[in-house]
Amino acid sequence: MSLAGSSLVTIDDLSNGEIEALFSVADEMADSLNDQSGVCQGKIMASLFFEPSTRTRLSFEAAMLRLGGRIITAVEVGATSLAKGESLADMARVVGSYADIIVIRHPWEGAAKVVADYAGIPVINAGDGGHEHPTQALCDLYTIKKERGNIEGLKIALFGDLRYGRAVHSLTYALARFGAVILFPPSPGLEMPEHVLRKLTTEYKGKLIRLEAPNQQVKEGFFPLDAMYVTPSSSHQLAMLPDISIQIELKKTGIDTLYVMRLQKERHASTEEGQELKKNYPVVDKKLLKGKEFKGTIVMHPLPRVDELAYELDADPRSMYFKQAARGVPIRMALIALLLGTKEIAISKEADSFVQKVDYPIYDRDSGVRCLNSNCVSNQETETRYIKPEFKIVNLEPLTLRCLYCEREVHPQYIASSEWHQGMLETKKYHSADSHWIRKIKPENLIIFDSESEAGAYGFKPSSYIAVHRRGR
Ligand code: NCD
Repeated sequence: MSLAGSSLVTIDDLSNGEIEALFSVADEMADSLNDQSGVCQGKIMASLFFEPSTRTRLSFEAAMLRLGGRIITAVEVGATSLAKGESLADMARVVGSYADIIVIRHPWEGAAKVVADYAGIPVINAGDGGHEHPTQALCDLYTIKKERGNIEGLKIALFGDLRYGRAVHSLTYALARFGAVILFPPSPGLEMPEHVLRKLTTEYKGKLIRLEAPNQQVKEGFFPLDAMYVTPSSSHQLAMLPDISIQIELKKTGIDTLYVMRLQKERHASTEEGQELKKNYPVVDKKLLKGKEFKGTIVMHPLPRVDELAYELDADPRSMYFKQAARGVPIRMALIALLLGTKEIAISKEADSFVQKVDYPIYDRDSGVRCLNSNCVSNQETETRYIKPEFKIVNLEPLTLRCLYCEREVHPQYIASSEWHQGMLETKKYHSADSHWIRKIKPENLIIFDSESEAGAYGFKPSSYIAVHRRGR
């Protein structure tokens, strides 16, 4: 099987078998970094970084140069025609005709998907807002494998800003697919978004256990867990224990990896919000790592660090973050070569057992729903000329739509059916989304509205239930 011509927008664009195969190419690259200059000779990589970056951009560029390819680059929106109001789609088409592969980092969630949809060449997402950062997850997974041998059954804690940290979103999906037990100790107020947690149980079919009163447990010297994911493949004994026993059990059996994130202050709505969140932000230092559960833990961080990871840990043999960053070069060399088709790999089908692609019905009518995430690419003025909101219908009760671009969820209030009303304008009725009608209307006939005024604007009248309910209010 070949990855030639494909893009990497989300970590789920690669199957487990493909990730394993990519790691073996990365091993090959790491063993002879200086002998790869024939692999991508004559190829050009466009490196488009519209947000600050040191590691990701320079390791991608170093990777392409080591492969013998060349680079064209743009690092600021202000220096490109995007600043003149050009759309991402137009930019993608044009850059796609200049280069052989595009690497893009952009502050809008879903931007990499749009570029991949229009470029006509492979596109690699190097971070799209607070959404995903799949190549960081590849470096992380590779490091865990190198240091621990295997991922299945490992207890891996993701610590800090889980809300806005795109690297931990991609990593969570990858870890779930490889069968890790994932522990979520967020900084207060920065919990893992609901859409990420939902995917764990719907796409990866594991069990999500929510723990109570995490903050009280910090005071008692326990690790501040608020949720835990256990894969379907292992009936892990932790899953059977009541909350407090989980904490005690972790002390006994140890945490294999502690993955730390900095506070993503550039994604907060206001500096005041950022200040407030900073006050309670955890610090990983010698004192914390004295805890019994961290005796054999490896400490990871995608970097850059700010105040959350003490410099005193740099000499500690458990610290892995600089090694983790160095591995970015062979991993990205392997990825570029595979997507350009200058390397081929054999993929083991066996390793694919954790992939569970779910085919959700798509909602893409012009009327009705918009993504509520103001940072989503589908809400940007330059992009709405050609993008219309599209969603996966991921749940019916309650009705839950997942934006196709940023994956945030919306819970619309009103529904109707196209089937029953076609040609009969006077009988067009809308219903409450939590009524029994949600089970009656076929997905292909479903019409969804955010509000009653929206339903009204499309010529629909309230069902008798809604009308009665309204009068009663
Ligand atoms: C991460 C990112 O940009 O999302 N950094 C990186 O790519 N190494 C994490 C971060 O900035 O905190």
